[in-house]
Order: sequence, then C-alpha cells, then structure tokens
Amino acid sequence: MTTLLINRSGPVVRVALNRPEVRNAFNEDVIADLTAWAASVAASDARVAILSGAGKAFCAGADLSWMSKMAGYSQEENEHDARQMAAMFNALDTLPIPLIGRIHGAALGGGTGLAAVCDIVVAAKDAVFGFTEAKLGILPAVISPFAVRKIGVSSARELFLTAARFSAARAKDIGLVHTVTPEVSLDAAVDGYVNELLTSAPEAIAGAKRLIATVAGRAPIDVAEVTAQTIAQRRVSDEGQEGMRAFLEKRPARWIS
Ligand code: COA
Repeated sequence: MTTLLINRSGPVVRVALNRPEVRNAFNEDVIADLTAWAASVAASDARVAILSGAGKAFCAGADLSWMSKMAGYSQEENEHDARQMAAMFNALDTLPIPLIGRIHGAALGGGTGLAAVCDIVVAAKDAVFGFTEAKLGILPAVISPFAVRKIGVSSARELFLTAARFSAARAKDIGLVHTVTPEVSLDAAVDGYVNELLTSAPEAIAGAKRLIATVAGRAPIDVAEVTAQTIAQRRVSDEGQEGMRAFLEKRPARWIS
C-alpha cells in the first residue's frame, strides 16, 4: 500500500495518510487502501487504531483533481466511485476497535468527515476544520450521515451552508473533537487515550460501539429489550466474569498487560 504508512506496535496499529504533496487528499487509490486496511485491522488482534496524516496536514478531503475528472466518467462509473467512498467511511465507522483521530494542520471536507468517524479525536490547537464543499459547488454528501450524527442538525445547517473554516476549539464545542492540545503534545494526548483504552476489555469495547450504534436516536422503550439482552449476555461472558472477578479479587484483569 503506497498511499498509507502503516505501523504496528504491540496492540496498537497506526495508519497515516501518505500523500503529503496534496495534503493527503484522497482519491480512488487511497479509498481502496484505507478500506482494505480497515478490513485487515478488523480481522486482526490489534486493540487500538490511530489515524493521522503525514506532512503538513491531516487531510484536505477528496482529491479535487480526481473529483473534477468525473465529468468524463459514465453515470455508472461515477456512482460506483461514490459508493466506494461511502464503503470506506462505513468500514472506518464500524471498526470493532477504537479509532483515534490525530489531527494537525487541516481537516477539510472529507478530512472533517474522517474525524467524524473516529471514536476519539485529538486535535492540535491551530488545526482547521470545515465542510468546505459548498464553496466548491459540491456537497458533503457521503460524509453527511456521519457528520450530522456527530455534530447535530443545528451545527450542520450552519457549517454545511456557510462552508466556513472553523477552529479546533469550535470543533470541540460541537462534539467533533474531544481534546485540543498544542501540536507538540498531540502524541502524548493520543498515548493517554491509548493507555486508557488498553485497560478496557476488548470485547466490551466492540460491544459498546455496537450498542451506541443500536440505541442512538431511538426511544429508550424501543431498545429496552435489546439492552437487557446485551447486559444479560455480557455479565455471564468469559470476559465479563473475568473483569468482575478481577475487581473483587483486587487484581488486574487478564487484558491488562
Ligand atoms: N484536492 C487536490 N489537491 C489538493 C487538495 C485537494 N482537496 N488540497 C490541496 N491540494 C493541493 C494543492 O492544489 C497544492 O498543489 P500544488 O502544489 O500542485 O499547487 C498542494 O496540494 C498544496 O496545497 P496548498 O494549498 O499550497 O497547501 P497549504 O499547506 O498552503 O494549504 C490546505 C493546505 C489543505 C489548507 C489547502 O490546500 C486547502 O484549502 N485545500 C482545499 C481543501 C478543501 O476545501 N477540501 C474539500 C474537498 S471536498
């Protein structure tokens, strides 16, 4: 994979978008590589994944040279390409392990979309975000379900329509970013999350992600049965039994190395 830099260190896998000359804008090659990477991570025993960008920026969104060439594609090819992009965002969104976004420089258009599919986002103080598509005469269409879910309808209406760039502080206010830190401390902030996540049980983390996706936007009464089933299964599972026993026996659980 030439468009990505991948590095595995124990339970932690890092992937960096690696087209710094275009500020990591993504084209069909990046989409194919990142989708394949997500599948390989999902099938591996990695416990935490970190997404970042090589060079001056996290990601400048979709590659505008690639997108503008679509005028020469057939309708079928154009739609196929767009579906591949949606599949990439879905694959990242449903990763069974935590995905931490490490954001510096710019995260614009689909770059902001990538932030929206991360579970945890750590951003440099001077990072710039934006759903800039409307300024380019296009739309944040594929990323909209992820973005609207993350930031809510009110902020989406303001930010999709103005297409204005906004700060890391604003991104934190609207729930897109969780921690803002000077760029020199980005890795330390990411490591803090990694250490915390490695003390949570892997199957419980995967289950928590599925649970959130299941209950989000639903009335409590409509999900009461599925939530009861979920805890009933979890508390008798090997992992649940081990975690509770470890607490009662005042020892670390087996997933804490
Ligand atoms: N698609 C294709 N090429 C892009 C790109 C994109 N989304 N974003 C940047 N590039 C290219 C530039 O055209 C430039 O190419 P060149 O060296 O051949 O001139 C190169 O990347 C560097 O960009 P530049 O603007 O000079 O870098 P910068 O560090 O000053 O600014 C950004 C970086 C990301 C802030 C700026 O490039 C930008 O605003 N890009 C557009 C982002 C955007 O609106 N994306 C939404 C896409 S839907």
